[in-house]
Amino acid sequence: MYNFGMPSSLKAWIDHIVRLGRTLHYTPEVKDHPFTGAFADRNVPVVVLSSRGDHGMDPGGIYAHMNHLDPAIATALGFIGLHDIRSIAVEHQSQGGEPLAQSVRSSLSATTRLVDDLLRTHASTDSRSFA
Ligand SMILES: Cc1cc2nc3c(=O)[nH]c(=O)nc-3n(C[C@H](O)[C@H](O)[C@H](O)COP(=O)(O)O)c2cc1C
Repeated sequence: MYNFGMPSSLKAWIDHIVRLGRTLHYTPEVKDHPFTGAFADRNVPVVVLSSRGDHGMDPGGIYAHMNHLDPAIATALGFIGLHDIRSIAVEHQSQGGEPLAQSVRSSLSATTRLVDDLLRTHASTDSRSFA
């Protein structure tokens, strides 16, 4: 997280992959929902691993309202049909010490659980899901 949102390099990546005519299709005849994401018919999970200097920015946290990173990623990727977004963040990077160590530990175990979950739910699906 940089300045409560995406680092510019990640923003550049989003701007390169969310592209009309390639990952996003526009059908003016469909009045209410003219945009269709290219991934809409594929069950593709997206894993966002991030880190923050501060803390409390997960959903429900005291500073969750300042987190403009995960919601922005979910909105942009949702536009191209990627709706299954899994986010795990290390916090307290500025503070360091035990709060950081604890956050790293819990993020690592959350990551292990997430990998187990993804393998269980996606292992037998079309390999294109991970392309
Ligand atoms: C330019 C800059 C802006 C940052 N802005 C925030 C911020 O808004 N909120 C926050 O919690 N941490 C912020 N941080 C701390 C980073 O999120 C943290 O150091 C993170 O671990 C950096 O990851 P990186 O090593 O991949 O760059 C900022 C760091 C930098 C360098």
